[in-house]
Amino acid sequence: MTVASVLSLVLLLTGTTTSRRVFETLYEWNLINFDLPYGSFVPENNLFTGLEIYWDRIFLALPNLKSGVPATLAWLPRPDQPGAAFIGQSPALQPYPSLGWQGTAGNCSGLVSVYRMRIDRCDRLWVLDSGVITTLDNFTPACPPKILVFDLKTDRLVRNIVLPKDVVRPNTLLTNLVIDYEIVGGSRGDTYFGVPIPQESCDDAFLYMTDTANAGIVVYDIRNDQSWRVFHPSMLPHPDYCTYHIAGENFTLPDAIVGIALSPETSSQHSLDPYGYRQQRLLYFQPFAGIRLFSMPTSVLQTPPDIDTDLQIGVVFEKTSQSASLATDPNDGTIYFNPVTELALATLKPGSTQAQLIIQDPDRLQFSSDILVTPRDNYNVWFVSSKFQKFFRQTYDPHVINFRIMRIAQTHTPVLQTPIVQSLTTAAPQTSYKNSLFFY
Ligand SMILES: *[C@@H]1O[C@H](CO)[C@@H](O)[C@H](O)[C@H]1NC(C)=O
Ligand SMILES: *[C@@H]1O[C@H](CO)[C@@H](O)[C@H](O)[C@H]1NC(C)=O
Repeated sequence: MTVASVLSLVLLLTGTTTSRRVFETLYEWNLINFDLPYGSFVPENNLFTGLEIYWDRIFLALPNLKSGVPATLAWLPRPDQPGAAFIGQSPALQPYPSLGWQGTAGNCSGLVSVYRMRIDRCDRLWVLDSGVITTLDNFTPACPPKILVFDLKTDRLVRNIVLPKDVVRPNTLLTNLVIDYEIVGGSRGDTYFGVPIPQESCDDAFLYMTDTANAGIVVYDIRNDQSWRVFHPSMLPHPDYCTYHIAGENFTLPDAIVGIALSPETSSQHSLDPYGYRQQRLLYFQPFAGIRLFSMPTSVLQTPPDIDTDLQIGVVFEKTSQSASLATDPNDGTIYFNPVTELALATLKPGSTQAQLIIQDPDRLQFSSDILVTPRDNYNVWFVSSKFQKFFRQTYDPHVINFRIMRIAQTHTPVLQTPIVQSLTTAAPQTSYKNSLFFY
């Protein structure tokens, strides 16, 4: 089996113009299978939500949404790498770093339930462990949420960060994270034209994490080992958008903020506005149950908020349907998301008022929960799909492909003609909410 043999050519008819897009399916499964000598395993209760790409390996996060998930963090060889041990089209997932780390809700020392993980600039894998098991059945917070950091050169644990009680709520569910290596410095608002503090060590960074059940962003200052919560009503599920329509099936899930992604670093030329001024770095975010894409400056996130803090929330865009996944290209700031009803992958150029579908596929794009613009693969776009509507409704057909890892080649990106949505407003000044910070 070679990559080329599962290469997919996608034809998109876009009104008067025809664009040909190429994307590849690198791996695909009917149902997830594991390479395990023991453990309780219910195949139809397993799905992956998180994807990360290292030089030689693919990492997958499989949260414990229902019982019977034997490993919450797994890896596979990268099939596009010469010399990689290619193990078939539907390989068994390998527990990471080993089986002994998995499902250790009993004593909370190992991995309990992971939704997403990210690799930093120093070859370390930051694994965000929600600590919550059987989330969709009875939401059991079995262990405190924590961040386990593995050195990918040795596969050894190098840090174990247990978040303090004051940033955790009884129903906290941490599902996503980004690593911000640009420390803005100074107090909030003073640095709009300023130059960021240069990074001196691997730990000169901030983590921003999404709380999807008790809406909010948890910030962790790695240098100073401090953390705080930031909340704004834009992070809540919107009651009009809690039901998802995917390929003829519907389900309802009032999920708050899930998708987060950073705009390019301000040292990048793409952070200059049309007048040549340096723009603030932004964190983009979106509740899953909602169609608006929001932003806030990282300078605001990097300072513990108080009751009078203006969080400078902006409305960037309004999508045609919900999306869990969100990514940005660190080079030009292009935003990627997967509107669930369109069964598509869409892009939005910063400052543009129109998003574009770049891929649409009625089968293979049924619910993508993670997209990456991958520095360790020449900034190609990788994404997963898992037919979550069938997971939710327990309607998986075990005789067809339900799970996929896919990739588009950046170099093939054409300009498509058909906008799918109009934005609410993108030109500065953006819609902004004042002084609406709450602690609860
Ligand atoms: C907790 O789990 C870890 C990982 O499985 C194991 O190494 C350790 O011995 C356990 N500790 C206790 C006190 O059971
Ligand atoms: C799903 O929702 C759509 C839009 O509300 C509706 O037309 C359709 O009948 C629903 N499908 C099912 C299977 O309930």
